[in-house]
Amino acid sequence: MALWDSRFKKPLADIALKFSSSIHIDGKFYDEDITGSEAHVKMLMKQKIISVKDGNAILKALKEIRKEISSGKIRFNWRDEDIHTLIEDLLVKKVGGRGKRLHTARSRNDQVALDERLYMRKEINALVKLTRTLQRTLLQKAEKHKETIIPGYTHLQRAQPLLFAHHLLAYVSMLDRDVERLHDCLGRANRAPLGAAALAGTTLQIDRLYSAKLLKMNGIIENSLDAVSDRDVMIELINACAIIMMHLSRLSEELVLWSSQEFSFAQFDDSFSTGSSLMPQKKNPDIAELIRGKVGRVYGSLFGLLTIMKALPLSYNRDMQEDKVHLLEAVDTTKECLLLGSALIKNTNFKKDRFEKELDGDLLLSTDLVDYLVRKNIPFREAHNIVGAIVAFCVDNKKKLNEISLEVYKKFSTEFEEDIFRLLTSCASVNNKRSGGSTSPAEVQKQLNFWQKKLKKS
Ligand code: ARG
Repeated sequence: MALWDSRFKKPLADIALKFSSSIHIDGKFYDEDITGSEAHVKMLMKQKIISVKDGNAILKALKEIRKEISSGKIRFNWRDEDIHTLIEDLLVKKVGGRGKRLHTARSRNDQVALDERLYMRKEINALVKLTRTLQRTLLQKAEKHKETIIPGYTHLQRAQPLLFAHHLLAYVSMLDRDVERLHDCLGRANRAPLGAAALAGTTLQIDRLYSAKLLKMNGIIENSLDAVSDRDVMIELINACAIIMMHLSRLSEELVLWSSQEFSFAQFDDSFSTGSSLMPQKKNPDIAELIRGKVGRVYGSLFGLLTIMKALPLSYNRDMQEDKVHLLEAVDTTKECLLLGSALIKNTNFKKDRFEKELDGDLLLSTDLVDYLVRKNIPFREAHNIVGAIVAFCVDNKKKLNEISLEVYKKFSTEFEEDIFRLLTSCASVNNKRSGGSTSPAEVQKQLNFWQKKLKKS
């Protein structure tokens, strides 16, 4: 039975009820809905708006309903309209007229807003945990690869040598900002709209702070109109998910590239690789590709919710029921991708010896030659021009930087001495870095120590 039947001469047409039913989505909030109702009933009892006897009967029945839903005894049916209606119907079936007092001084508008906030609070904590796990997995790989040197790229062109640990730690930093964003969201999500009623508050003497406290929320959303109209924090959370997914897509893209035969830098364990139905030799990076692809869902959710909220007049509008589709899609997808991201990194072998020899003498060491001349007091721009000419010479003559003689170097600048050849290894290049946060082993070790401490399981 609908919660508002008596006003109408006819029931809602089946086709309209099915269209407006949301139980297949908000059914996922049953636990939050019951938790919210428990706090509400306790507050109503404390304020003597309902009797202790009625309140206790309701609380006992709510407990049973929670068990029945979680055990799968109760199946959701679109005729139940939404989770709020279903739980109230079940309650009235159990305790009769007493159950009809639960909704005193409450509307489904503040109820659903509360359910969503309790759900976001739970899921933000889950997202933080999964992000931390991925950070730790990357950190473990970084520890293992603090001596592995890879080419660093800009524009996907070889730029300068990097310690592979440095590269992995860049992702650890990115994910740390994701955790900051999630925590920031949590602060705003964890405020109670309960007691706003439909939009204007209530004539009954409720205690909003008390129910908020019972729910371990850090205060209430003061303005009742804002409390039922606001979906900002949901947009913020989906945005945080979208940024996590963007980060994961960059990591996935690198894994796809590195696992190609051309790079041959990463090799996925067979348990995380797929084959081709036609080409027997193929070993495909489908898991990384799917993570990269699933970003579309989360970006879609972000724009989906922003679009729903655009130009909506205050306060609650039924359009807002669609918010949950996007919230669940974004949260579930992001959680799954974080989980798979960790598993994939754990099950990937990065080949330490793949690049090192190839990089010695490579043109990506030219910046080291520029710095050499700068140390000899040649102005940077001039040094850059000199080395640029040497690079052109190497390209024309198909030579590496360590394959041309000192005599030739001297033709470009008399400042060059025999010691330049010591610079022309990838190892020297990273070892010679001096600046804070650089790819030098000492700086990378500092970062490793920092993250070890920060990510230590408490
Ligand atoms: N199922 C609704 C939703 O998720 C609950 C709130 C309904 N409120 C209303 N005034 N019809 O938004």
